[in-house]
Amino acid sequence: MCGIVGFIGNEQAAPILLEGLSRLEYRGYDSAGVAVFDGETGTLAVHKAKGRLQVLSDQLHGGADLNSTVGVGHTRWATHGAPSDVNSHPQVSRSGRIAVVHNGIIENYAELKAFLVAQGVPFTSETDTEVVAQLIEYFYEGDLLAAVSRVLHRIEGAYALGILCADCPEQIIAVRKDGPLILGYSQEGSFIASDVTAILRHTRQVSYMEDGEVAVLTRDGIRCYNRLMQPVEKEIVTVDWEINDAEKGGYEHFMFKEIMEQPDAIRRCISPRIREGEVVFEDFSLSENFIKAMRRIYIVACGSSYHVGMVGKYHLERLTRIPVEVALGSEFRYMDPIVDENTLVIVISQSGETLDTMAALREARRLGGHILSIVNVVGSSIARESDQVLYTWAGPEIAVATTKAYSTQLALLSLLSLWLARQLNTVPEKDYRAMLSAFQELPGKMEEVLSHRDSIQYFAAQYFNHNSIFFIGRNLDYALGLEGSLKLKEISYIHSEAYASGELKHGTISLIEDGTLVVALGTYGTLFAKAMSNVVEVKARGADVLALTTANHREEMSHTADAVMVIPDIHDLLLPSLGVVPLQLFAYYVALMRGCDIDKPRNLAKSVTVE
Ligand code: F6R
Repeated sequence: MCGIVGFIGNEQAAPILLEGLSRLEYRGYDSAGVAVFDGETGTLAVHKAKGRLQVLSDQLHGGADLNSTVGVGHTRWATHGAPSDVNSHPQVSRSGRIAVVHNGIIENYAELKAFLVAQGVPFTSETDTEVVAQLIEYFYEGDLLAAVSRVLHRIEGAYALGILCADCPEQIIAVRKDGPLILGYSQEGSFIASDVTAILRHTRQVSYMEDGEVAVLTRDGIRCYNRLMQPVEKEIVTVDWEINDAEKGGYEHFMFKEIMEQPDAIRRCISPRIREGEVVFEDFSLSENFIKAMRRIYIVACGSSYHVGMVGKYHLERLTRIPVEVALGSEFRYMDPIVDENTLVIVISQSGETLDTMAALREARRLGGHILSIVNVVGSSIARESDQVLYTWAGPEIAVATTKAYSTQLALLSLLSLWLARQLNTVPEKDYRAMLSAFQELPGKMEEVLSHRDSIQYFAAQYFNHNSIFFIGRNLDYALGLEGSLKLKEISYIHSEAYASGELKHGTISLIEDGTLVVALGTYGTLFAKAMSNVVEVKARGADVLALTTANHREEMSHTADAVMVIPDIHDLLLPSLGVVPLQLFAYYVALMRGCDIDKPRNLAKSVTVE
């Protein structure tokens, strides 16, 4: 979704803004813009362009044209008003002296706009953001902070704002409510950014703005205020991500790089948490009393993170015998969930900023649940609002389609299931040991799957022309199919559905005809015979079957399926962790052959910060 960068300091601002925005491109956007203070004319120079950031950057010769050391920049993902130059940010007030960049939605913008129009204020865009710029000017009487504060009492919704005023060019004002915004500190000056990747080249010293906080950035530092405009001391933390982690490093696509990084990401996530034959969570614990009293577990997430939850449900219920419900972040609030103080609510999110997941978290907290989140981005909103956090340590994930974050979330949730079972005494010692050693084997076995990627590429070449694909499987394989199907459709634009195999006969099988491609998942040994029956069933209706199974079952599957992708045998607990890799590769190669924009699929954003 929208990306914000702001800088005030001792360097030329525009190149820093454009470079920072290029680091935020992965979030998804449709237009871009910058505003800088032009010291010669005493005005704001605002430049905006629909389309790729490169268009804007070319127009400004990489920022060299704009001689200024203070400015704000933005990549816009359209909500109010179509993507266009005029609707791009920065949005300016009627005099052009106040410029605003915004991520989020101002929910009461129509009402505020009507008020301003009645006062004779002319509007030029269809955006909700213009209301903020116009309203600040309406209240401005020489004190920008006071005007911003009055506006904040009137606007409703979710927002991160960067505000520049030609009358006070020695400052940028930043505001955050339910939208990510971080502050960066360096010798060069002060920064704001939607996420840390935008400013990593300049600083690793950051602080995270809290909801309702206002920051005033100057060349010498940053002052912060709470909702009541009382000064607050911000903790400055050092980010341990490397700039190289957020670069392609010779790979054609971030997605492919991130697929290939998975074994290392799993090592980073899991190895420190298995010590001397035990699962050890240094960063987290649940009291014995809570664990004993725990009656129910909810897993709440969106998209691929939700699919992790679908696998997690099977693991948790099997291992702990505690009932688990998996809920979509966007549905949770509206389903009157049964949560009390004996409920563990596991919130899963790569970005830690997904608004629907965040809203679900808040609802679960209101109802008294204990919130444990599994998050990748350190210091993100979800991490900060949870009772406890387990970080996945996957490093920055740039491709819109998640791969290494999914894998680390899944491995961590599997490890958590095992840990809980150990605390509850519901797992026999022998099984516990077998599962622990499977975790140690996982990265190596992932490497083995990745080393055979040519065979997946070959299958992709055979099937990339299909217009509709079904993923079928039972139990763990069904949950795995949900992710395989999403991965394929989001980046290749092929219509694809995931079905629990047993459901085929209840309707879907009518869609199977000569040449329909069915990806049949049969990795779960316990249900392999059933998986085979379903393959026979769809073959009999003319389907082409591309199967996925383990080395153990390869031969049997080859007799019936048209093509077989194989993963090494591993303990059931980690079958989905291994099985997802060929499905990610299949989706990647299919999208590549169809010429799709793999890292930035149409209409999608990396971090979904609107409802
Ligand atoms: C799909 C994908 C999305 C995210 C979803 C939740 O490849 O990446 O479905 O999983 O938007 O995002 P997070 O995990 O950041 O809350």
